Amino acid sequence: PTVAAVIVAAGSGHRAGGPLPKQYQSLGGETVLACSIAALSQPGVGTLACVIAAGGEALYDEAVAGLPETVARRLLPPTVGGATRQASVRAGLEALAASASPPDLVLVHDAARPFVSAALVDRAINRALAFGAAVPGVPVVDTVKRVDGRGVVVDSPERGALRAVQTPQAFRFAALLDAHRRAAEAGRVDLTDDAAVMEWAGHEVHVFDGEPGNVKLTTAQDMARARAEAEGMLE
Ligand code: CTP
Ligand code: MG
Repeated sequence: PTVAAVIVAAGSGHRAGGPLPKQYQSLGGETVLACSIAALSQPGVGTLACVIAAGGEALYDEAVAGLPETVARRLLPPTVGGATRQASVRAGLEALAASASPPDLVLVHDAARPFVSAALVDRAINRALAFGAAVPGVPVVDTVKRVDGRGVVVDSPERGALRAVQTPQAFRFAALLDAHRRAAEAGRVDLTDDAAVMEWAGHEVHVFDGEPGNVKLTTAQDMARARAEAEGMLE
């Protein structure tokens, strides 16, 4: 089967702060986006389609300039994303659909998760082949409460059944594209991951073991920690 990846990098990185959106900040000499692209660029993955913000072309070009030729030649020209992650993923999927050879499977990955391992990318592909829709998840360590508008606890879901999901999330391409088109058509524009889009469309989504190290860089503190680690590794 052919496999492509959509890497969403069209966010503004508001919570992380800093002079540039977090995907364009550097970790030990490499941008977060370049690290994510390189991590997804495994032998089983063909086309890599990045989604960027309007006006972000120069930052994108600069971020990918240092990638090895073996990786760079798999990049589709970047697509401009939308106001939400959901809209940005949809834009990437439509770019693949319009390309010369739409893939059998697609991996959807957050540019903000630069530490994903080759083993996890491989696992995502294999699980999507077996189940059609598969997402990495790790056990939740905190007890989670559902609260109402006043902050009063409504209920406490049993922790053992909860998973915090990550990316890359992996799907049969045609099914994910169709689910995204139908969700947008139906006005469902509030879905925060692609698993939720597939769930909404009635698909069964499997969760497999993610990696504790596959963190999403969200806050300024996440950025500082990641930068310190990357610089430590250079020494
Ligand atoms: N993303 C996107 N398009 C959007 C919003 C988010 O492509 N309209 C991407 C981000 O670039 C990121 C991933 O989705 O790689 C996960 O989103 P998040 O961590 O929330 O990043 P930002 O939205 O950029 O950050 P913030 O919410 O703090 O502004
Ligand atoms: Mg966001």
